[in-house]
Amino acid sequence: MPPAITPLITGATLADAPGIAAIYAHHVLHGTASWEIVPPTPDEMAERLAKVLGEGWPWLVARDVDGAMLGYAYAAQFNPRAGYRYACEDSIYLRHDALGRGIGTALLKALIEASEAWGFRQMVAGIAGSEPASVALHARAGFVEVARLRSMGRKHGQWLDVIYMQRALGAGDTTPPLEEP
Ligand SMILES: CC(C)(COP(=O)(O)OP(=O)(O)OC[C@H]1O[C@@H](n2cnc3c(N)ncnc32)[C@H](O)[C@@H]1OP(=O)(O)O)[C@@H](O)C(=O)NCCC(=O)NCCS
Repeated sequence: MPPAITPLITGATLADAPGIAAIYAHHVLHGTASWEIVPPTPDEMAERLAKVLGEGWPWLVARDVDGAMLGYAYAAQFNPRAGYRYACEDSIYLRHDALGRGIGTALLKALIEASEAWGFRQMVAGIAGSEPASVALHARAGFVEVARLRSMGRKHGQWLDVIYMQRALGAGDTTPPLEEP
């Protein structure tokens, strides 16, 4: 096992879009965690980033001591319809040579805190059945599997399940939100 890294985690800015796009492109082209087939360009990634930041939702980046980007995580409303306002879905992607060193655990912990601070009350992860590291990461952070949809995805010649894992944030559903949607 490579040694664990304690990354520096900060909020992303639009200047991070090219680095984020580069990290994500590897997973789009070579992996099954993302079911996109064509990697978004840096400009398209900047638009996604701007949308998340514009809503005030968290988008975090992890860096090493030299400032090199190791990964990123963000939370966005689970479904655009207004009633879903307090439910978010997370996404986490690490640079392909930085896996398995505790960076994902650190990013998810920081993302949960930032999502609670925004006011989200539930977090959902939609995880490809082919990704045991992501299932382990989320289970360790308190998520439980709530649904498994069979063979919903097709990529790299395989049918892929999607596993939904969920955890409450903050007060969860025990109190109403500060503002109704
Ligand atoms: C999923 C991902 C974010 C996890 O981050 P990470 O830094 O690699 O994971 P960590 O080192 O923090 O380990 C988290 C847990 O996963 C486990 N794990 C790591 N790699 C694993 C693997 N290949 N198989 C099974 N479990 C694995 C670790 O043992 C740890 O669990 P534990 O604490 O119970 O021992 C990262 O691997 C990644 O970017 N993967 C590709 C993209 C992806 O799947 N993104 C998630 C989309 S929702």
